[in-house]
Amino acid sequence: MKVSIIGTGYVGLVTGACLAEVGHEVICVDVDPRKVDMINSAEAPIHERGLPELLKRNSGRRLSATTNLAAAVADTEITFIAVGTPAANGKIDLKYVEAAAAEIGRAIRDKAGYTTIVVKSTVVPGTTIGVVQSAIERASGKTAGVDFGLGMNPEFLTEGTAVADFTFPDRLVLGGIDARTHDVLRDLYQSFDDSVPRIETNPTTAEMIKYASNAVLATMISFSNEIARLCSAVGGVDAIDVMRGVHQAGYFTIRHGGERLTAPICSFLEPGCGFGGSCLPKDVTALVGQGRENGLSLDLLQSVLRINGAQPDEMMRLMGLHYQSLRDVPVAVLGIAFKPDTDDIRESPAFPLIRRLKEQGATLTAYDPIARPSEHPDLAGVRLADTLREAVAGAKIVLLVTRWSEFSALDGLLGELGTQPLVVDGRRVLDPSSFAQYEGIGRA
Ligand code: NAD
Ligand code: UGA
Repeated sequence: MKVSIIGTGYVGLVTGACLAEVGHEVICVDVDPRKVDMINSAEAPIHERGLPELLKRNSGRRLSATTNLAAAVADTEITFIAVGTPAANGKIDLKYVEAAAAEIGRAIRDKAGYTTIVVKSTVVPGTTIGVVQSAIERASGKTAGVDFGLGMNPEFLTEGTAVADFTFPDRLVLGGIDARTHDVLRDLYQSFDDSVPRIETNPTTAEMIKYASNAVLATMISFSNEIARLCSAVGGVDAIDVMRGVHQAGYFTIRHGGERLTAPICSFLEPGCGFGGSCLPKDVTALVGQGRENGLSLDLLQSVLRINGAQPDEMMRLMGLHYQSLRDVPVAVLGIAFKPDTDDIRESPAFPLIRRLKEQGATLTAYDPIARPSEHPDLAGVRLADTLREAVAGAKIVLLVTRWSEFSALDGLLGELGTQPLVVDGRRVLDPSSFAQYEGIGRA
């Protein structure tokens, strides 16, 4: 099929590259000419495993990029909206979605024949048949369900494994306003494995499935962080052992041909210095905001956010067990990306921690293997190290914030340097017995 994708970020570009790989003809559209040029030169504008190879194979063949939205929409049968949906003032900000929908509407005004428009951005329930449909109809003078199809197909990929997640999804949620839209979506995903569960529903349910999915992940993380705090307070119990025990329950286990498959790591039950990223914090905020607008106080989800907001304080508390004052103490922050295997720093837990350390007067160095932000207000006055060795040399405190595999070599490196800083493990990936001074989230 001929597909256009409006918004070429983490989701839009991965979607475009993966759809091109399975044989569709894809045009990616972005307002950022730098991204467009890079894609057309088969260069990945983001760090995502497998993406450079997909671009090399498909750019200039089945995949191209442009800033010309109207031409891309005119030339394709199905158009995805994959622009950002940030949270602002405690609720979702739909300005990019609305602007893209209006522009698509103008583009189809004179387009002959039927076309299908599908929202892939995460939008609060009711947006597709509300804001999006109205914007397209107003700008085009056409009618949804008559002149064009309208759908909502949320994306469940995770940064770091986005290409694999898109290619081998755990589910396909296909929301459509009518049978014709569903037929188009079915055709698009025809080549995907038949065993992937497909949920065919209306757009508003599809939107709610996406939010509920992210909200449950955030809830599990805050739950494990709350239990971890209690473990620390009670003593003699380690939250990691507890969560391993919890995770053996049948309901966290996949049964495959009589075999029990339990993830070795407790997925989303790992206590730590908090969840970040461009999705979980903003999506839970958006859901709480939608509740408020509907006269509902979503107390559980508000607590999820509150607990998450307090995790940097837990890291500060652990440092406080060893240091009465952090004034002029050299501190190394390991990890700027919000999670490993990505260059994405949006809402990274590193930033609230850095802000608190600055307030206390610590001397800060930060290091990340991939994320090297040139400008970020919270990094002003923070020395950015080029290597792990450079970051920890001379540090009195080392804080592990992101679960990068490179950081598991910390004990050997400190041995070589002959230093024994306090190590505060915000991800519980290090062996406490390898360090002279060690604190970790969720330990006595
Ligand atoms: P992003 O910020 O990386 O990319 C959005 C892109 O849209 C940017 O490149 C921007 O320049 C472009 N854009 C904005 N307005 C435009 C317009 N009118 N025309 C053309 N391009 C325009 O965002 P993202 O992380 O890819 O997220 C996109 C959506 O997908 C969000 O709703 C997000 O919640 C959702 N989502 C993200 C992930 C993820 O892991 N990042 C996973 C699932 C769902
Ligand atoms: C998340 C969801 O996992 C995806 O399913 C979803 O598609 C995506 O949001 C989205 O809607 O954008 P992502 O934000 O890429 O994906 O990353 P996660 O792996 O969920 O991690 C989010 C944050 O939670 C990270 O800061 C991570 O360190 C933290 N986390 C994760 C924990 O603190 N504990 C855990 O057990 C798991």
